[in-house]
Amino acid sequence: MQQVAEPLESFVREMVIFPSRTDDDTPIAGFREQLFAVARDLNRIYHEERSRLQEMEKGLHMLEDSYLATVRILGFIVHAADAHTRSHLDRAHDYAVALARRVAPDLADDPILQYGSLLHDIGKLGVPEKVLAKAGPLTADEWEMMRRHPSLGGQLLRPARFLAAAAPVVEAHHERWDGAGYPRGLKGDQIPLAARIFSVADAFDAMTTNRPYREARPLEGAVTEISLEAGKQFDPVVAETFVRLYQEGEIEKLDRHELDEAASDVDSYF
Ligand SMILES: [Fe+2]
Repeated sequence: MQQVAEPLESFVREMVIFPSRTDDDTPIAGFREQLFAVARDLNRIYHEERSRLQEMEKGLHMLEDSYLATVRILGFIVHAADAHTRSHLDRAHDYAVALARRVAPDLADDPILQYGSLLHDIGKLGVPEKVLAKAGPLTADEWEMMRRHPSLGGQLLRPARFLAAAAPVVEAHHERWDGAGYPRGLKGDQIPLAARIFSVADAFDAMTTNRPYREARPLEGAVTEISLEAGKQFDPVVAETFVRLYQEGEIEKLDRHELDEAASDVDSYF
């Protein structure tokens, strides 16, 4: 609309600024007035459309925020009984987004990564509680049940229109670059990039967080582990980028204390 209205208006304005070009009583003057009225109308329509568009954009952002809040709640529901894993969810998400900004900036704000990292374990809703909560080693059957959680998560999300975006990360977050992961044994580029990014963030946070059954590892040790697993468990480019991010202080900049506080705020809902 701007492309049409504004040149028209300038053209007419020029005719008005230089009225000596025409005699006010000629038919050209009448045409000029009509043209001016059309230009004014076009301008009015343009401004109305622009404010309507701004309203729609505002509504869209609100809708996106609501989606993300809903997804976050769904993710927390999976870990409702465990405050440790709830704060893990927030940190793993933030590490994944920081890593994506460096590896593939378009992915950083994409629902595949945003929703995928928050919902990665949603399939655990389909795994029996006694298996999830078991302190000792799992039997072969229990391990088999546990290994189904990525596929169960995908089945849960794919029919839901706006949540389906998360499915590629949910289904592939336990795949490994060398093909030894599960559930499908995908290898290298067969694994969606968002899942390759998330799996590094997920592993780093899991290693550096206290769990009931083991102490957290020091950050340095966890970064060394990520580096050693480049080309084995992890995409080498993604793993090396994570190591560089850490060396540049970008990972520690994500305030872990603040994130823990945010997670404990959420505790009040459970
Ligand atoms: Fe998982």
